[in-house]
Amino acid sequence: MSFQKVAKKQDFEKNDKKLVVVNDQEILVMKVENDYYAIANKCPHMGGSLFKGNLENGVITCARHGAKFDAKTGKALGKPKILFLEFKVEDDQSYPIKLEENDILVDIEN
Ligand code: FES
Repeated sequence: MSFQKVAKKQDFEKNDKKLVVVNDQEILVMKVENDYYAIANKCPHMGGSLFKGNLENGVITCARHGAKFDAKTGKALGKPKILFLEFKVEDDQSYPIKLEENDILVDIEN
């Protein structure tokens, strides 16, 4: 385990998201209700930036083709669609979060 500081709690409003870079990897850190979660920013479908998507009710929707992921676990909840075709999508990678006072730490080496 190797937790690295990525943000401060006060950087987030309720149901907010931030893009951070840890060891050259883009990580999407989200606040859902009062807890924080981290998943890979790169959509498992075709690599779209999930940061550019919409976060609502704990679900992040990829802006490119509409795949949906659980912000807490990275689990795929909705398939991407191109025109009227639906495609399979893998779950996104999620990462452990640790809070130390006002700091948010992520471990991407898990
Ligand atoms: S790249 Fe995210 S849904 Fe296609």
